[in-house]
Amino acid sequence: MKPNTMNLERLIIQGGTPLCGNVAIYGAKNSALVLMAAAVLGKQDIIVLENTPRLADIEIMADVLRSLGAKVRFTEHHTLEIDPREINKTMAPYELVTKMRASFFVLGPLLARMGEARVSLPGGCAIGSRPVDIHLKGLEAMGATIEIEHGDVIAQADKLVGADIHLNFPSVGATENLMMAASLAEGTTRLYNAAREPEIIDLANFLKAMGAKIEGAGSDTIIIEGVKDLKQPVYYSVMPDRIEAGTFMIAAAITKGDVILERAPVHELESLSVKLREANVMIETIDHQTLRVQGRRPILATDVRTMPHPGFPTDMQAQFAAMMALAHGTSRITETVFENRFMYVDELQRMGANIRIEGNTATIVGQPRLSGAPVQATDLRAAAALVLAGLVADGETIVSNLFYLDRGYEAFEKRLAQLGARTCRISTSAQKSEAIGTY
Ligand code: EPZ
Repeated sequence: MKPNTMNLERLIIQGGTPLCGNVAIYGAKNSALVLMAAAVLGKQDIIVLENTPRLADIEIMADVLRSLGAKVRFTEHHTLEIDPREINKTMAPYELVTKMRASFFVLGPLLARMGEARVSLPGGCAIGSRPVDIHLKGLEAMGATIEIEHGDVIAQADKLVGADIHLNFPSVGATENLMMAASLAEGTTRLYNAAREPEIIDLANFLKAMGAKIEGAGSDTIIIEGVKDLKQPVYYSVMPDRIEAGTFMIAAAITKGDVILERAPVHELESLSVKLREANVMIETIDHQTLRVQGRRPILATDVRTMPHPGFPTDMQAQFAAMMALAHGTSRITETVFENRFMYVDELQRMGANIRIEGNTATIVGQPRLSGAPVQATDLRAAAALVLAGLVADGETIVSNLFYLDRGYEAFEKRLAQLGARTCRISTSAQKSEAIGTY
């Protein structure tokens, strides 16, 4: 991506069309990224990841693996092949880690495989300071020495030893980093207060396919029996993306549409579906991977409090707020996971939303309509929320900073257009502006 063009891409949306039809859900970004990092643990054979979404973040993680010596390529549109056998570097480059904080997930596997690892501190982002203390404390408990030098974490361990580790918050990334490191440690590691997100289960299944011994993934206590090495060849399919699926569910509801989601992780959408039904959205489970969402009835206000899984997902908070902006009544949305995840509110207010922030709670007084306006995305899920608002606003909405959207959603506007949305991506470079897409 050329940064200047990247910053100038904008999406024009003509609101008012109910979305109708079928959409297939793609692989989960937040699983694929950590499975790619876990491939660093493999020494003996090629790893194939099916159902890998084509996203900017996936390309960055592929570059991180290549910088360590791995070979990475897409053999088909959604099939990624990783050959980790030639990995011989122990440092993940600063310019890649700062571009995408999930690169930090290579710390644990690299340390476990090479005995040392140098990864730059990911730093904060729009939604919060994003510390990594839980990751580092856990690795130290397994016998690693950790130093911070010139903004890099330098981890060393001649041998990682299994330990009992109590996470002071069920951090997804820390649980994942520690699971991967513990897979090659000597002895047993028990992670207490571990994250329970579905992506943790996907990672555990992937590691077990490589030969790891892991029990309890999906619960708050995960037990990992270290093994000498992970050598099975792996052919694995990434789980469907529950946040992408939830975003399409809200797109159907907010536009009063009728959409069938295929290949959706129905079971993992329970906490969102409960809230959508409270808001009067019709959700029909057709089978374990197919859902029908209809927005025929008026949307009712309902309160939401984001929590670690199995609570309401923080990654759906902004999208749900966009829908509450048009609900009958007043709703309160409380964000308990990140400290600054209401950046999109100012932009929704430009479209006529009535939202007041007090501390970590947004109070939303539903309005009969929103009006299209030029708005700026501030993070990945904020971008999605603004697109959803644009789908239903009167007139034209122009969403800029589209690179945020492209980080988490593959061909999002094209797939919305296939459901009837009127979208058009404008890429304005110095020479020309060309409209890509359809009204
Ligand atoms: C993962 O981020 C996801 N990213 C996030 O998705 C998601 O919002 C988050 O989990 C929570 O579900 C990926 O999987 C790539 P955390 P992660 O560690 O691992 C604090 C998206 O939109 N914390 O569970 O970074 C932290 O500050 C992205 O797809 C510490 O204090 O999240 C935060 O307040 C956004 N110390 C809370 O825990 C630590 O060492 C949750 O963070 C680690 C985390």
